[in-house]
Amino acid sequence: MPFSFADYQRSASVLHARLGGFVPEVLLILGSGLGGLADELEGAVAVPYREIPHFRPSTAPGHAGRFVFGYLEGRPVAVMQGRMHYYEGCSLEEIAYPVRVARLLGTETMIVTNAAGCVRRDWAAGDLMVISDHIKFFLDSPLRGENLDQFGPRFPDVSTLYTPALRKTALAAASELGLTLREGVYCYFPGPQYETPAEVRAAGILGADAVGMSTVPEALAARHCGMEVLGFSLLTNMAAGILDQPLDGDEVIAAANAAKDRFSLLVRRCVARL
Ligand code: HPA
Repeated sequence: MPFSFADYQRSASVLHARLGGFVPEVLLILGSGLGGLADELEGAVAVPYREIPHFRPSTAPGHAGRFVFGYLEGRPVAVMQGRMHYYEGCSLEEIAYPVRVARLLGTETMIVTNAAGCVRRDWAAGDLMVISDHIKFFLDSPLRGENLDQFGPRFPDVSTLYTPALRKTALAAASELGLTLREGVYCYFPGPQYETPAEVRAAGILGADAVGMSTVPEALAARHCGMEVLGFSLLTNMAAGILDQPLDGDEVIAAANAAKDRFSLLVRRCVARL
């Protein structure tokens, strides 16, 4: 179902009524097992997605399904604790919907995180990666259909979708913290099945460093409406076929849990340096 600009305005006004004059500078979208950062906000106000018009509750494991507003490192932020994925049965436009609502609330920067499979044999499960670019050969675009000019142009330039200055900030923040941070290309797959070994090999040949099932719709919508974007992947597992063993969703959640303190520190330091 295509949304009109008035739909986005309606959702934003419901949040506005809850938040008073609070303007979230940064939108944080936290992936599988990484939502704990929302519990670290000061002065937090939580709004379940079901109370916001047109929001859909996430059904994915490790996704709570609410917006939490508050202060992180002294900066006003909005945290999406849980997000939608294409494999849950929604459109890319629905996945990106909250990003545009945040924009209407005044948000200028999006930090998005995900769990992903590692394509590179010289990297390891547990590594963190800042996203330099993405490949999306499958599916349409969250911007397909009538263009909402209030958000951005019909044909947006995405040659620097993942803001170069923010990537530098992330690399500097990681080095301050003594964390290794990879930088690479994220290849978007629709899921819910993991990729085949042949798909992973193909993605690697085409220039991907990681494979995953999220982030790209939100990033496209954010860039379209003029937001700066910083994306991180936690490489929870070696992608299919790299190791001689099957993939397991529990392993993904366990790896995300093991890395969540490291990941939270990095995100916090980036927010502080914005
Ligand atoms: N592929 C796709 N999505 C993922 C993976 C993977 O290997 N690991 C975590 N999310």
